[in-house]
Amino acid sequence: MIIILAASSLLFGYLVLQRLQLYLARRRIIQENNCKPCPYVLNRDPILGLDILRENVRLADAGRFLSGSQARFRRFKSNTFHNRIITSPIILTVEPENIKTILSLKFKDYDFSNRKVAMDPLLGDGIFNSDGARWASSRHLLRPNFAREQVADLAMLERHFKHLLKYIPADGSTVDLQDLFFCMTMDTATEFLFNHSTNSLRMLDQQESSANEDVQFARAFNAAQQDIVTRVRFGPLYRLLSKNTVKEGADAVKMCHAYVDRFVDDAVRWREEQDLEKKGSSDERYVFIHELAKQTKDKTRIRNELINILLAGRDTTASLLSNMFFEFAKRPEVWRKLREEVEGLQGRIPSYEELRGMKYVKWCLNESLRLNPVVPSNSRFAIRDTVLPRGGGPDGSSPLFVPRGTTVGYSTYTMHRRQDLYGADAEEFRPERWEALRPSWEYLPFNGGPRICLGQQYALTEAGFVTVRLAQEFKRLESRDTNGGVWVEGLTLTLCSKNGTKVGLFRE
Ligand code: HEM
Repeated sequence: MIIILAASSLLFGYLVLQRLQLYLARRRIIQENNCKPCPYVLNRDPILGLDILRENVRLADAGRFLSGSQARFRRFKSNTFHNRIITSPIILTVEPENIKTILSLKFKDYDFSNRKVAMDPLLGDGIFNSDGARWASSRHLLRPNFAREQVADLAMLERHFKHLLKYIPADGSTVDLQDLFFCMTMDTATEFLFNHSTNSLRMLDQQESSANEDVQFARAFNAAQQDIVTRVRFGPLYRLLSKNTVKEGADAVKMCHAYVDRFVDDAVRWREEQDLEKKGSSDERYVFIHELAKQTKDKTRIRNELINILLAGRDTTASLLSNMFFEFAKRPEVWRKLREEVEGLQGRIPSYEELRGMKYVKWCLNESLRLNPVVPSNSRFAIRDTVLPRGGGPDGSSPLFVPRGTTVGYSTYTMHRRQDLYGADAEEFRPERWEALRPSWEYLPFNGGPRICLGQQYALTEAGFVTVRLAQEFKRLESRDTNGGVWVEGLTLTLCSKNGTKVGLFRE
């Protein structure tokens, strides 16, 4: 009994000492950095913070998750506030200096935390879903494959664009461009990554057999992505969902892996033949999957990296195009200016340099990514006690202490619509504003710091190319939006239009 009592008091003493040490260490950080507390707290429910969870679900269902989050910043008249869901502390910020600190200056103080759990089944530990040394090794492996020469295969884009054109009615009747863009980016990304295109635009053909395995893969990939969204939404409660939902997700993931594995097997076999024949491959056409096979024979690793890039690159580019064309359809003057710029090509397909030199096309892309950033919010998880430069004190100008275990979320959507940064018309689509804008961390569609998007040039090339080619083909487009042209958030893994991009296009 005495031994138990002595052991308990020792343990108690040890825990008290630990707490005291932690308290003193934190007090030192707070004093040294002049941190002040942030007085703005979102939760009204002081115990579990379930009020905000409920409100978030309601906002998401109404297609107002992002605008609702923007309204919270406005309500507080603050660019940083606190929140808590269940027991997890959260800091939300739209302060460029804070975002720069999380993503770059104090990069090593943060990781992804929960995101990994939801994405693991489909993505494994590929670049998009890993941290630390594992991520650094993926980045090192993949980065050389995004050099300019590799992302500028305009002949490939033209082939798929021609295919897309076939699905646009010639008589001006209504078409949902969003559906077409999502298929086309799947087709181009799979050709770029696997050296084999799904040609999923065929999904839109009623006659096309759904037994085709490329088309089946495209469908399974969509379902596997939906499974990630469900996992993110339900967190630990995911396992309580109906058996069918869970099984559908698992089946989709299995099918995606099996489909990609075939191409990986071919690539590794190709590399082994190269090794046997001691062939150099300098005279060969660039093939992404072969480049990976040259560097590793680990088949699971190659498959994971390919699926990670497909996930990172496909919906994002399609969403950008969909959001931008939603705006074009309502703004004949913007379309006219685009066509004026494109007329310089005299009907030719643009070269990479010509495409890059098109100022108005670039302004439109920038403006769409500003107003509706396709990755509209993001977060990082503090793995040690750290400090943000702003957000403390009533006016938010003092540093803010961030205890280990805090999630720091940032809303690119709200930051991109701040009137103090972009002017009184920040909520409007106005490409001309880019004539004078030279933003830094206040404009972050592709993130910044060591994890900046690897596919930025690829995406801008593809989206710019499709825009130029459509402007060459069609004189006029007309919005046929079912919601009177009022854009509604369609938020899954990326941000697109909930009601699609329904338009009529006219050649004359
Ligand atoms: C408009 C199109 C795109 C946008 C707005 C975009 C945006 C982003 C953002 C915000 C991130 C950071 C995510 C995070 O760290 O939480 C990211 C990462 C990434 N993106 Fe993109 N992306 C686009 C297209 C692409 C394309 C086409 C590819 C590849 C073909 C690609 C490949 C990647 C990869 C591999 C990463 C992970 C980088 C890393 O963690 O080191 N992205 N992208």
